[in-house]
Amino acid sequence: MDIQDYLKQQQEKIDTFLTQVVPPGNPLAKTLYESMQYSLLGGGKRIRPILTLAAAEAVGCQGQLIMPYAAALELIHTYSLVHDDLPAMDNDDYRRGRPTNHKVYGDGLAILAGDALLTMAFELCSQPATESGIPADRQVNVMYELAVGAGHDGMVGGQVMDIQAENQDIDLITLQTIHNYKTGKLIRAAVRIGSLLGGATQVQLENLTGYAEDIGLAFQIADDVLNMTGTREELGKDAGTDAKRGKKTYPSFYGIDGARDLAEDCISRALRRLDDFDDRADPLRSLANYVVHRRN
Ligand code: IPE
Ligand code: IPE
Ligand code: MG
Ligand code: MG
Repeated sequence: MDIQDYLKQQQEKIDTFLTQVVPPGNPLAKTLYESMQYSLLGGGKRIRPILTLAAAEAVGCQGQLIMPYAAALELIHTYSLVHDDLPAMDNDDYRRGRPTNHKVYGDGLAILAGDALLTMAFELCSQPATESGIPADRQVNVMYELAVGAGHDGMVGGQVMDIQAENQDIDLITLQTIHNYKTGKLIRAAVRIGSLLGGATQVQLENLTGYAEDIGLAFQIADDVLNMTGTREELGKDAGTDAKRGKKTYPSFYGIDGARDLAEDCISRALRRLDDFDDRADPLRSLANYVVHRRN
């Protein structure tokens, strides 16, 4: 399969859904909706929602029913980026090819738009079962995965470890733990949510979870490498920021080539997890390769 065509097609579907998700809203809080839309609709590779759709497909379920849940992952991811860029965190000026949310709307609105995107994710996942077509017990399982992946024992926990590690001489195990929490856990949730919604068996769920953990690490290693090798134009965000902030990354331990090799090892392991799946898992196979070979 041509991964570029597949990504484009999935991105278009997801973007169509996302444009309808943020309502015109309460006129008294008009700027809130503008700020949410600014970050949500301003580009982004949509990897997490694409993984949700692809995981559901791998276990034989395709279609629009999965879309609100896939979108929920993108809402949470977008909120995490808006907060990550704030002056109190990474203090970045540029994201997804344009000025960061707080540069346009100010810190207060950026914080609140992030909060609203996060809570809206749970609104999307908790639509009455009669409307969503997903049984209520499955919805509860999905919301649990989302909460765990995004929260104190997931992405937020990882972000705390990440800022505390700045200018610290951390070891490799600590770095791996930070990567696992700050990036891996939400990617893991994306895949598990698609698997659960698609009706995966216990064995399939375990294999898909292993797949997600391996590509999650590979994804963050690739991000570390791109931070050193990419340009602002390519990445849509500033390059060289890890070194500037005294952050240890995979290339600081292994060099750029060594880090790339490690990411390849992760991908080989991830692909082996899919051995018992048929060609409906081809999108997941292609996505694994894309995660390390991407240019942005
Ligand atoms: C960037 O994520 C932040 C990390 C967790 C490494 P993406 O590379 O998925 O960013 P977008 O969504 O495409 O902008
Ligand atoms: C972002 O990590 C991870 C999040 C959970 C938002 P980074 O701070 O390393 O990623 P970029 O370089 O800003 O995208
Ligand atoms: Mg950060
Ligand atoms: Mg950052």
